[in-house]
Amino acid sequence: MDCRKFVRTQIEAIRKTVGEDLAISALSGGVDSTVATVLAHQALGRRLRVIFIDDGLMRHDEPRQVKASFARLGIGVEVLHTADAFFDALKGLTDPEEKRKAFRNTFYTVFGRAVRESGARFLVQGTIAADIVETKKGVKTQHNVLDQIGISAERGYGFQTIEPLKALYKPAVRKVGKALGLPRPLYERMPFPGPGLSCRCLGEVTPERIAIVRKACRIVEEETARFKRFQAFGVLLADQATGVTRDGRRAFGQIVAVRSVDSENAITASATRLPWATLMRIQRRITRAIPSVVKVLYDLTPKPPSTIEYI
Ligand code: XMP
Repeated sequence: MDCRKFVRTQIEAIRKTVGEDLAISALSGGVDSTVATVLAHQALGRRLRVIFIDDGLMRHDEPRQVKASFARLGIGVEVLHTADAFFDALKGLTDPEEKRKAFRNTFYTVFGRAVRESGARFLVQGTIAADIVETKKGVKTQHNVLDQIGISAERGYGFQTIEPLKALYKPAVRKVGKALGLPRPLYERMPFPGPGLSCRCLGEVTPERIAIVRKACRIVEEETARFKRFQAFGVLLADQATGVTRDGRRAFGQIVAVRSVDSENAITASATRLPWATLMRIQRRITRAIPSVVKVLYDLTPKPPSTIEYI
């Protein structure tokens, strides 16, 4: 693929679509939305407003880090603090698809309001080919694929979406990021799902349970950073298991699964062959940092039959 040509063509297309209007970009900090936002910024300059929705489901320190990385690129980011709306919508839900739908509806309601208040008619999103393929196949509801599932963004939410990356898979998106001159840590970032840590929290999503998932994800990311893996994270399971306290009493506790996968494009994946010492260190750090956890498991399942995330 000729990345420079792709960039030129997309910039022209975005300019043509938006005309003299205003557009908003939904930045999550992942590679896809980062690349889509930088493309749109190069196309529209000050006619693009970049909004980061802090949904309370982000990784450790993510809102601050994303704002700082974009400030270094000369792009201002507005952060909308909307965690309460997401936790309210997810309250009491345990079914994975119900959770995805609640996330998606809240995302578009919150975002639709921001777009309407701004007067923008266009929303730039980092949807990529894998999102569309998996939604069409019915693997799961991606939060950012509306047209493909028969929902009109314009009728339902009041704006038209622009998806400059929808024909590309992840490796091509990274190449476009490089061609745009982004720093390597931005275009090589580990993928992170739109519905955030809620994809890694089985059972009910509450602020307390998300705090546990956030700690586990941070530990797994740190301990696997030196390996070439596509994604690595921790997942809080919904059940309880028996553990034993230091003074020998039985105690029920939580279970965390550790997932690390190798993959090219997220359509297929296999478990990373992590060294035993790394797995043991992850297990020790998780049980120390989160005393309510009594079991740490390593997930060996490839995709298929599994998926990468847990919901
Ligand atoms: P799965 O779990 O389906 O994930 O094997 C494939 C890739 O997509 C990411 N993922 C998502 N990305 N919105 C996104 O933008 C979503 O709703 C979503 N669900 C999964 C996942 O992290 C993996 O990289």
